[in-house]
Amino acid sequence: MCKVIAVAGQKGGIGKTTTSINLGAGLVRQGKKVLLVDADPQGHLTLGLGYPKALKVSLKNMMENIIMGMEFDPHEAILNHSEGMDIVPSNKLLVSMDVSLFSVEDRETVLKEYLELLKADYDYIIIDCMPSLGMLTINALCAADSVLIPVQPQFYSADGLTELLRVVKGTRQRFNPALEIEGILFTMDASRYNNSKRVKSAIASTYGKDFRIFPCSIPRSEALAVAPQQGNSIFAYDGNGKGAKSYAELVEEVLNHA
Ligand SMILES: Nc1ncnc2c1ncn2[C@@H]1O[C@H](COP(=O)(O)OP(=O)(O)OP(=O)(O)O)[C@@H](O)[C@H]1O
Ligand SMILES: [Mg+2]
Repeated sequence: MCKVIAVAGQKGGIGKTTTSINLGAGLVRQGKKVLLVDADPQGHLTLGLGYPKALKVSLKNMMENIIMGMEFDPHEAILNHSEGMDIVPSNKLLVSMDVSLFSVEDRETVLKEYLELLKADYDYIIIDCMPSLGMLTINALCAADSVLIPVQPQFYSADGLTELLRVVKGTRQRFNPALEIEGILFTMDASRYNNSKRVKSAIASTYGKDFRIFPCSIPRSEALAVAPQQGNSIFAYDGNGKGAKSYAELVEEVLNHA
């Protein structure tokens, strides 16, 4: 059985892409077959795994084929990374998809239809979402079994979290009743600061009853920021560091919550 996890959050720069890459790479290290889907026109997941911005075939082409009802090879866009995960890449051309989906029938489920064609090949499909709650993110939420929500423990974070949870609730009611919250993951955590501790405990007391808050949190780590410049996960770049250790803990949590 394949599990589809959307890594989503309305705020920008909170570690969605870093989490998608390292969760994916970590699951591969545990023997799982993993597909990473870059659902962000910024194409950072694609870039951070070492692929160029110019792509012959990308997620956009695959979604277009679905919309047009074409016969096509769903594997055509897939890249094979040296660490073992597969990738459906994207670049800025995906922006037009976010807009053009509005005029498409069944516009919320185009990505789901595409991923259904690939599920038989994978244990996990991880979708890296863009930092907005537009049509591509709605597509990711409709395609997903669960949503993993990275949150940076800062004052404004709770705001974005409330908004995302509202959209998750709406998606559940209208399109995807089985959609679960995988958990809330604190990222770029500077836990030596009191403010970080305060925000974490405020979020835990507001949301902890209803949602899992991962016991592991991802610390600020320079290695996590440098690894994508080498086109690798943290496990390949700095396998013994605190970044790798914290993402390995997240992988365990996700595996235990199958
Ligand atoms: N734990 C961390 N410690 C230090 N730097 C980090 C950490 N996590 C991510 N970064 C860096 O912070 C920046 C933003 O992270 P990332 O791209 O993962 O966020 P994002 O939520 O995907 O951003 P966007 O909303 O633009 O898609 C990147 O330069 C990344 O390398
Ligand atoms: Mg990103």
